[in-house]
Amino acid sequence: MADALKILVVEDEPGQRELIVAMLAEAGHSLSAAGSVEEAIVAIKADMPDLVFSDWKLGQLSGMDLLNYVKREHPDLGFIIATAYGTISHAVDAVQAGADDYLTKPYQRQTLLLAINKVARAQALKRQNRELSSALSEQRALVGLVGKAPCMQQVFERLRRISATDATVLIGGESGTGKELAARALHQLSARQHGPFVAINCGAIPESLAEAELFGAEKGAFTGANSLKLGKLEAANGGTVFLDEIGELPLLQQTKLLRFLQEGVITRLGAQQEMTLDVRVIAATHRNLQQEVAEGRFREDLFYRLNVVPIRMPPLRERREDIGRLIEHFLKLHARQYGFDAPVLDKSTLKQLLDYAWPGNVRELSNRIERFVLLGDEEELRAETRPGAVAVKGGMQLPEEGLDWDAFERQCLAQAMARFEGNRTKAAKWLGMSYKAFLYRLEKHALV
Ligand SMILES: Nc1ncnc2c1ncn2[C@@H]1O[C@H](COP(=O)(O)OP(=O)(O)OP(=O)(O)O)[C@@H](O)[C@H]1O
Ligand SMILES: [Mg+2]
Repeated sequence: MADALKILVVEDEPGQRELIVAMLAEAGHSLSAAGSVEEAIVAIKADMPDLVFSDWKLGQLSGMDLLNYVKREHPDLGFIIATAYGTISHAVDAVQAGADDYLTKPYQRQTLLLAINKVARAQALKRQNRELSSALSEQRALVGLVGKAPCMQQVFERLRRISATDATVLIGGESGTGKELAARALHQLSARQHGPFVAINCGAIPESLAEAELFGAEKGAFTGANSLKLGKLEAANGGTVFLDEIGELPLLQQTKLLRFLQEGVITRLGAQQEMTLDVRVIAATHRNLQQEVAEGRFREDLFYRLNVVPIRMPPLRERREDIGRLIEHFLKLHARQYGFDAPVLDKSTLKQLLDYAWPGNVRELSNRIERFVLLGDEEELRAETRPGAVAVKGGMQLPEEGLDWDAFERQCLAQAMARFEGNRTKAAKWLGMSYKAFLYRLEKHALV
């Protein structure tokens, strides 16, 4: 049997009522009873049941009146109605008004118990779904991560699951997919939310300073160190450290980081004593770290340490259904930020944006919309997201009406990036360009 339920039986005929109550009590449920709609409402107010089992005919009023009240005031309350033989239209009306099930009199004891269990199970499921989706929407609101696509919902679910743990997390994904935002979300959802969140871009620290930056340095530890330098890990004590672009961390620092992950201790540069820290580590990279390991640029043991819980932020082209939602989100966000009214996009512009490849992912979308909100130049927005010329068999056929060179160049870059999932080295090679020339063009088109 399913769990015991609290059931309210509503029946105006006392003999019948007692019979039903006895039957259900025997099946292990806990019961209350009412002889009229008014009594039933009083009973519900006094002690909310899980389920109401009501007769159709109840003196002057009917079970429909009770059903309407229940669905209006307590939409989650289960409701089964019993109708007399030959009044199937009543049953149909009741189901249309929101009854979970109906029984036609006379019914067997077994039929009644079955209907009750079925409704109870459906209710439990409904409740679970609602709890889940409200938890998800809470997160969305809380951390500003927009995304209804199933692949994003999976990311949210994973973030939620691991937020209660201190597990090390490695976030992968192309540029602009929201890796840092996800890391911040994880921190905010965790018990460390009131502790510090310290972000370091490992690609932006010169190799010679990396150690002091991460682990700190005693006064006099190296030339120019004329005061104690607090490392980023120490600064994050009690909170979370976000190691962005972890793939760029020099090998020597990789070793020290591994030691911290294994033993929880660091030693400041020039210090004799080690110190124990309580820091959760979240790392991110747009690189394929496994490939970096294979090529000897990244320590394998560190990779496995970091990769305890991998999260991959999907590129926008894998969740195109979110593009519209994101456009709307950023129109409002940037308008609010600058104190403007949110502008409205022309339908054809909107369509073009929905079809565009978004090689720079959410960051590109956000930047373009921000520019549009500031300058109000819809023409520019259209020009930059216009589908370019298409290559045809036997060479490149340029369009009759001429070519927008900038848009064309952009498309080439975008498609190369998309093809190699943001791997710039490969994309540059594919376009027959040096890495430097490629990077220069990416920057020119705000694709980085
Ligand atoms: N799902 C999302 N909902 C709302 N805003 C988002 C979402 N994903 C990313 N953003 C916004 O897009 C911008 C880029 O996100 P973020 O910096 O987290 O990307 P990233 O993956 O770290 O990129 P990069 O690899 O280039 O550093 C930020 O302004 C961020 O707030
Ligand atoms: Mg980032």
